[in-house]
Amino acid sequence: MSVKIGNIDLGEFPLLLAPMEDVSDPPFRFVCKQGGADLMYTEFISSEGLIRDAAKSRKKLDIFEYERPIGIQIFGSDIESMREATEIATLAGPDLMDINYGCPVKNVACRGAGSALLQDIDKMVKMTEAVVKATHLPVTVKTRLGWDDNTKNVEEVAERLQDIGIQALTIHGRTRAQLYKGEADWTLIREIKRNPRVKIPIFGNGDVDSVVKAANWRLEYEVDGIMIGRAAIGYPWIFREVKHFFKTGEVLPGPTLQERITACSTHLEKSIEWKGHKTGIFEMRRHYSNYFKGLPDFKPFRMRLVSEPDVENIYEILEEVAFKFSNYDPATVMA
Ligand SMILES: Cc1cc2nc3c(=O)[nH]c(=O)nc-3n(C[C@H](O)[C@H](O)[C@H](O)COP(=O)(O)O)c2cc1C
Repeated sequence: MSVKIGNIDLGEFPLLLAPMEDVSDPPFRFVCKQGGADLMYTEFISSEGLIRDAAKSRKKLDIFEYERPIGIQIFGSDIESMREATEIATLAGPDLMDINYGCPVKNVACRGAGSALLQDIDKMVKMTEAVVKATHLPVTVKTRLGWDDNTKNVEEVAERLQDIGIQALTIHGRTRAQLYKGEADWTLIREIKRNPRVKIPIFGNGDVDSVVKAANWRLEYEVDGIMIGRAAIGYPWIFREVKHFFKTGEVLPGPTLQERITACSTHLEKSIEWKGHKTGIFEMRRHYSNYFKGLPDFKPFRMRLVSEPDVENIYEILEEVAFKFSNYDPATVMA
């Protein structure tokens, strides 16, 4: 059965690309869309930044037709600012709005935003209600299991936010206190799915990094779809691999070396297109090793790629990579 958020039909068991600060920008989203992501989100955007009209926050509102369906994610600690930011973000024309109640990092959570709202559910409900009322778009929420081991209150969050109108909930199977440590635990996510009061789609998130895990956790935790973050960095094929497995029961071979080079080049090209030559090249530097993970002796190439300021030379180095590793079978080398 198809999963729907408002009028948006995501098909059966959608795979979502996670919002990731400094990662989930339009160039990265371009390759993930090609890789098969069914729904994508922007990086989180500060509500205060949007209201101040800060250039950095504004720029994050850039979305493109081919990305649809896409959600804009906002965060903040002040209800009125979140309301105003929702109006601003809605004008950018996304398909839905998403609220971040999961970010654990100090300068967000300790300022009363992100996961901090898990300590004050009444305020979270009021904030969410303000956002829902400020837009004609469907509103979704992304959060964690709770603040810490003693307060895993996401079930209350699911019921109360559904009651005031959110249309889907993504749960990262960790508490705020865990940050990114330990293994994500999806047990509580399954309990929410089994709660007959909860009707909205529930997406599981945290640690899905292979076809096998996606398949096992789909069955074990009964979620409506899966959100994938880190495993898509440098590996946008994860979406098509998981989908292919669900459809056919077969594991696709990994991408060929040429596919890796093409995706990397596309990412670079889009990066330059969107950020300009200098910043585009500079910010691409963090991605090279991800695209070529597992290639033996890649380091000298990486060193050259991350210090090269000229785009034509970067493409030449990528051609050298193709030549040097042409004899390797990427499916086995990079596994
Ligand atoms: C570099 C990085 C940036 C992130 N930025 C955001 C963000 O802006 N908004 C958000 O809701 N979660 C953010 N997250 C959390 C991810 O969306 C996701 O919940 C988390 O990485 C667990 O999923 P994964 O194991 O599939 O990566 C970020 C994670 C990482 C690694």
